Amino acid sequence: MWSKNVSFESGVLHLSGIPAAKLAQEFGTPAFFLDENAFKSRALAWNNGLRDEFGDHAGTIFYAAKSFISTAVAHWIEEIGIGIDVCTGGELAVALAGGINPARIEVHGNNKSVAEIDRAVVAGVKTIVMDSLFEIERVATAAKKHGKRQAVMLRLTPGIEAHTHEKISTAHEDVKFGFSIASGAAWQAVLKVQEHPELELRGVHCHIGSQIFGSDAHEIATDRLMEFMGRYRDEYKVELPELDLGGGFGIAYVSGDVTVEPSDVLPAIRKAVDAACKKYSLLIPLISLEPGRNIVGPTMFTLYEVGTVKDVVVSAGTVRKYVSVDGGMSDNARTALYDAEYTAVIAQRVSSAPLTLSRLVGKHCETGDIIINEIQLPADIAPGDLIATPATGAYGRSMASNYNHVPRPPVVAVKDGKARVIVRRENEEDLLALDVKE
Ligand code: LLP
Repeated sequence: MWSKNVSFESGVLHLSGIPAAKLAQEFGTPAFFLDENAFKSRALAWNNGLRDEFGDHAGTIFYAAKSFISTAVAHWIEEIGIGIDVCTGGELAVALAGGINPARIEVHGNNKSVAEIDRAVVAGVKTIVMDSLFEIERVATAAKKHGKRQAVMLRLTPGIEAHTHEKISTAHEDVKFGFSIASGAAWQAVLKVQEHPELELRGVHCHIGSQIFGSDAHEIATDRLMEFMGRYRDEYKVELPELDLGGGFGIAYVSGDVTVEPSDVLPAIRKAVDAACKKYSLLIPLISLEPGRNIVGPTMFTLYEVGTVKDVVVSAGTVRKYVSVDGGMSDNARTALYDAEYTAVIAQRVSSAPLTLSRLVGKHCETGDIIINEIQLPADIAPGDLIATPATGAYGRSMASNYNHVPRPPVVAVKDGKARVIVRRENEEDLLALDVKE
């Protein structure tokens, strides 16, 4: 739950040796604090793990930018030498601004605009992952226009019900993404790509869903996609060289959860690839993965300040302590959207007060503005206390909004005892910047 450079010295939270109160004093609250060394070592662990497991057949670890990206993080990705998956023109712009080699950029999205496609082709991205027949035409047109041959992959839906929240499950049949294998749409996509000499079909891709534990779903996906690769080989007498199994590897949000480590799943995926190669008489393709949450999620916590505390009688004999902090659903939409679970601690002091049933809420004008629905917090919690919620790195800042004109929090990277802002706090000027005055 807490990243590796978080420690509790005499019960007080420190990141890389800096106490929570000092972080709050210097950078304000709410703020995201990112353990830079932890981020880099998680990214490297995936890269090294893939290489150790697949050797010459290791493709690329494409960090999923949607989980969190900034130009500084893009720069780290480039330094580490892994790739990046972007799914909009905006994410592509940040990746390029951060200096990522386009040859390591993969472009996703179920409705890429013509302009986004054009920009990706001009930039020379490694692959564009096709999500519709229209898009195949559009990418071919862009490639032709710029005199290029564009490498593409097909996003397939293998028909798997991943055991995760419905809204973050992506590979069952009734979903907007990709081409269904079962319905024949995937084969139609193959035929469509063949009509365009400007396109080079490199392989197939799937992303089963997010916050998945174990490797079962990825193993089944491997079999279904490789069966499809076998069919392709039978038809065209050549093999597709690449297989990308997406991301989705789960992390620990609350105690009892266990973060998936690369070494927990890669050996099983390797076995599934070997078994499918045997079953469908295929050579081992280049294997790529797209972890987002699993890299950045555990490496950030959010620091809030408590503003008010209110005891509310919810039924006879039951009192719930509503603890309001200075952020809320604008910096953590996940509880409202997915019933996500988080935990929290008082960060700047130790309390020996008894625990009491509490609800951690934000400052937004909405009942559903809940960060943690039910948590036991020390009964002496009071205005001015700092609250830290771990594991907010993925889809926290990246899904943050300006709801109620609340400025979005900064992201502060902390490394070797030094802290620096990598995304600054929004201010009132930013909030007014888009308004056109009458
Ligand atoms: N690749 C593709 C094609 C994806 O669509 C995604 C996530 C990923 C990789 C990265 O998945 P990860 O390893 O981070 O699980 N906002 C939701 C998650 C939506 C994920 C969308 N796609 C949440 O906060 O849980």
